[in-house]
Amino acid sequence: MSKNALSTIIAYHEASKHRLDGYAPGPGGLDWANQPDPFRRYAGTQLCKLPLRIAPLQIPFTEVRSGRRQILAVINLAGLATLLELSFGLSAWKEYGGSRWALRCNPSSGNLHPTECYVLAAACNGLPSGVHHYVSYDHSLERRAEANPDWGDMLTGGFVLILTSIHWREAWKYGLRAYRYCQHDCGHALAAVSYAAATLGWRAQVLENWHDAVLTALTGVARMGDFAEHENEAVDVALWIGCGNMPEFLDSAQTAVALASELNFIGEANRLSAKHVHWAGIDTVHHAAERPVPPSSSLTLSTQWPPLAAIDCSQDAGSLIRQRRSAVGFDGVTTMPAERWFALLDALLPRSGLPPWEIWQRPPRVHLILFVHRVEGVAAGVYLLLRDKSVAPALRQAIREDAEWAEVPGAPQHLGLFRLFSTDARDAARLISCHQDIAADSCFSLGMLAEFEAALNEGAWRYRELFHEAGMLGQVLYLEAEAAGLRGTGIGCYFDDALHAMLGLSGHAWQSLYHFTVGGPLDDPRLRTLPPYAHLSGREVC
Ligand SMILES: Cc1cc2nc3c(=O)[nH]c(=O)nc-3n(C[C@H](O)[C@H](O)[C@H](O)COP(=O)(O)O)c2cc1C
Repeated sequence: MSKNALSTIIAYHEASKHRLDGYAPGPGGLDWANQPDPFRRYAGTQLCKLPLRIAPLQIPFTEVRSGRRQILAVINLAGLATLLELSFGLSAWKEYGGSRWALRCNPSSGNLHPTECYVLAAACNGLPSGVHHYVSYDHSLERRAEANPDWGDMLTGGFVLILTSIHWREAWKYGLRAYRYCQHDCGHALAAVSYAAATLGWRAQVLENWHDAVLTALTGVARMGDFAEHENEAVDVALWIGCGNMPEFLDSAQTAVALASELNFIGEANRLSAKHVHWAGIDTVHHAAERPVPPSSSLTLSTQWPPLAAIDCSQDAGSLIRQRRSAVGFDGVTTMPAERWFALLDALLPRSGLPPWEIWQRPPRVHLILFVHRVEGVAAGVYLLLRDKSVAPALRQAIREDAEWAEVPGAPQHLGLFRLFSTDARDAARLISCHQDIAADSCFSLGMLAEFEAALNEGAWRYRELFHEAGMLGQVLYLEAEAAGLRGTGIGCYFDDALHAMLGLSGHAWQSLYHFTVGGPLDDPRLRTLPPYAHLSGREVC
């Protein structure tokens, strides 16, 4: 692995930190006239209007989170339509003072939605064979490329999704730090797909051997003539979606290369903004983090966990996924019982047969520093959740000597939960999260501490994967919070080194990559909520 790539990643990571004495380089104000269009479309493509499923899916969320699937699941177009809707589709419109904006089932930093989704399908799946781009506004697929007839042999019984990011969408608001947010959003999207697949009785799995170059060929995102300058997309990751296990031959670079041959691309991407600010630092880090064919890895998920803690929730998975929202404020009084908190933390452990962790076989690299404010029966303070207990000795060495490392009364033994400091952590949580009250007024908030250096030593592209893992944790927290009658919010704005300093961490062995908060939400009464797809009334309902 190139030393240059590694030092480029670390230089970007340092430069994109928010610090107590100054924020990462940004645009210095919002240029509303050039706000990027949140919906990408390709003019000149053949459109397939997907059926819109309005009826709730009957499978309870409790079944989905614990990995139990419908036995009679089949792969068909109606299912694909539901999968896309539950992961990338609109969930509501909000209206205030003459402005109107869409929310989606997947969250996004600043609601800017950099993640785009492409579907590789063969004629046997009920779609014209080729590469299709999902348009959430229309709940439709645009056929971006026609494929050669061999596709039918390779894609029977499933679909492939490829996720890409439009960095400009996030950079418009967040400048240099935007690359991180694109990766977080991709992680949320991966988990959203996994939960949606499980809701249908399907399974999603990352295609580990489909490297960036082949993903680029399959999606056509490097066809510069098809995109306005600075609005092209960067490939992120490919997933297989099907019933049962993925056919082994599919996860190989050769299969991907074969699929990419003789693709005939059609269409021109819409222009998202009239003018752009070019963030060269984002191009540089993206280039350094390009994913080659990964070396065959000895890393596998090995821990045997007891069954996931049961929760009391009667809601069906479809409606829970559609109702997910970010809290804009918390009431500062709602509490949650310790048992519910333990069950929520349990869902963050990387059980290999459960969504979303079943999408890959990677060992966990991200652990949690928890700020407990209002959990009944759990003393206020700073806690640590180890998602892999084998890192405990290294962290003990790294964290301040006066940390308590106390077991938490009532916590299940397998959780790897420790109290580090007994204290009212509200001020620290607020300060570290860029002074945002949402980190202090909740039941608990947290920072996600990654095994940064160890992961990067395996390859610079692991930088992306660490953020993906963090985003997946965020998506679990969002859904588990809804199931507990609470609400979550991702926190991308935090002072990185303030968290490290609080714990006494130095160097790059451990870095905080994402924050989150969960509590009793306050509604904003000024906002009007409208249904997601009223503009498609009359669309066939399956
Ligand atoms: C990666 C990420 C970072 C975020 N950071 C913040 C934040 O720092 N503060 C905040 O109030 N909301 C934050 N959010 C919440 C988004 O603003 C929210 O997801 C978006 O407005 C869409 O709303 P929804 O989640 O209700 O669909 C973040 C969300 C994500 C996914």
